[in-house]
Amino acid sequence: MQNNPDQFSSKIGFVLAAAGSAVGIGNLVGFPVAAAKNGGGAFLLLYIFFVVAICLPLILAELSLGRATGKSPLGAFREISKGHKGWVLAGALSLVTPFMIAVFYSVLTVWLLGYLVLVLGGKLDQLATPVYFGGFITSPWIFAYLAAVIAMVIFVLKGGVRDGIEKASRLLMPMLFIMLIGLAVFVLTLPNATAGLKFYFTPQVDRITWSVVNGALSQAFFSLSLGMGILITYGSYLRKQDNLVQSAKMLACTDTGVALVAGLMTLPAIFAIYPNTNPSELSDSSVGLIFSFFPNIFMAMVPKFGYAVSSLIAATFFLLAFVAAITSLVSIIEVPVAALKAESKKTRNAALGFVIAAVSIGAIFSALSFGQVKWLSEFAFYSGANKSLFDVLVDVFYDTILPFNGLLICLLVVWQWKRHNMAAEMLSNNSSSGWLERYTHFAIAFWIPVILATVFVITVINKFMS
Ligand code: TRP
Repeated sequence: MQNNPDQFSSKIGFVLAAAGSAVGIGNLVGFPVAAAKNGGGAFLLLYIFFVVAICLPLILAELSLGRATGKSPLGAFREISKGHKGWVLAGALSLVTPFMIAVFYSVLTVWLLGYLVLVLGGKLDQLATPVYFGGFITSPWIFAYLAAVIAMVIFVLKGGVRDGIEKASRLLMPMLFIMLIGLAVFVLTLPNATAGLKFYFTPQVDRITWSVVNGALSQAFFSLSLGMGILITYGSYLRKQDNLVQSAKMLACTDTGVALVAGLMTLPAIFAIYPNTNPSELSDSSVGLIFSFFPNIFMAMVPKFGYAVSSLIAATFFLLAFVAAITSLVSIIEVPVAALKAESKKTRNAALGFVIAAVSIGAIFSALSFGQVKWLSEFAFYSGANKSLFDVLVDVFYDTILPFNGLLICLLVVWQWKRHNMAAEMLSNNSSSGWLERYTHFAIAFWIPVILATVFVITVINKFMS
C-alpha cells in the first residue's frame, strides 16, 4: 500500500493538492476586495471565525466520508445510506455540481490563459482599454485557448492521483506561493501602498451587516472547496496512516493564509495606483476586477517602470491567477472522472476521455453565451434580466447548490453514518483531538445545518425571486 499510485504519497502531497483545489481567483482578488469593502479587520476576524467554526468541521466530515468509504461522492452517499434512493439522488447531485462548475470555471481559466499570452505578446496597452475584454471573450481565439487548457488538464489527470495531481501540485503550488509573495513584496514598496493596508486591517465594525456576514461565510465556504465533492474524493485518496485532522487543519490554514497574503498584494496595488479609490466603489466581481481593472493598474505603472517591466509584472500576476485556476479546475474535473471510473468499471483513461469530452462541449456552450449565440446568451430570465448560460451556471451551481450540498453532507453524516463511525475515521491516528471531535459533532448536528439552510434560502430569494 505504501506506493499505491491511487493515493497521495504523503500528508504534504495531499495538503498541496487540496490547497491547489481551494486556492483560486477568489482568494487572490475576491477575498481582499471584499475585506476592504466590508469592514477591514472586522471582516478578517469574521472570515477566520467561519473558517474555524463552520468550514473546518465540514472539511473533516468530507474527508472522513471519503477515506472511510474509499469512494467519490456518489459511491460514498450510496454506501453510507445503504443504497437508499433519496440519498443516492443526493450523491448524484454532488456529481452534477462539480461537472457544472467545471463547465464555467474552464471558461474563466481560458480567459486567464488568454490574458497571460496577450501580455507576454506585448499587448498590455490594449488589454487596458475598456472594450477589450468584451471583444476578447467573443473572439474565436477562445477556442484555441480552450483546447490548450483542456490539453493541460488531460496531461495532469491522466497521470492519476500520485503521478498526476500530486506531482503537478508539488510543482505548481510552491511556484504560486513564490509569485504571490514576490508580488506582495514588490507592491508594498510602492508609495502609498499603506493606504490599502489601512482599509485591509482597520476594523470597521459598523460595516458589518447581515449581508456582509453572509458574504464572509459564503466566501469561506466556497474558497475551501466545500460542497463540491472534491474533499470526499480527495479523502478517498488519503492513506489510512495519515493524520486526517492535521491534514484538514493544514488545508484550512494554507487556503486562508494565501487569501490573507493576497490582501497584501491586491489592496496595496489598487491604492498605490489609485490613491483616491473609495473601496465601496470597487466591483464585487472578481472577473471584472481581474480583466478590466487590473490591466489599468499595470498600465499605470508604465511611467515609473517602463512598458517591459510593467508587462512582466502583469504577466506574473496573470500566471499566478492562471496557476490558481488550473489547479482548481483539475480538482473539480477529477470528481466526475473518479465517480465514472468506479461506476462503470472502465479504465481511468476511458472515464477521463468521456468526462473531458462532456466538459469541453459544455465549456464551448458557455463560452458562446456572451452574445455570439442568442439562446445561450439569453438562456434564462430571472430577477429582471436575461441571463447567459455562464451566469446561470454560476448562480445555480456555485452560489446556490453548494451550500445545499453542504447541508446534505451534514444530514448524511448525522442521520445515516452516525457519530461513532465518523469519530472512528476522523480520530484514527489521532487520539488527542477528542475535543475537536466533540465540537465537530455538535456543529454538524446542530448549528451548521441551520446556517447552511438559511444561506440556501436567502440565496434563492435574493437571486431568483427578487
Ligand atoms: N477557491 C476558489 C476560488 O477562489 C473556489 C474554488 C474552490 C473552486 N474549489 C474549486 C473553483 C474548484 C473551481 C473548482 O476561486
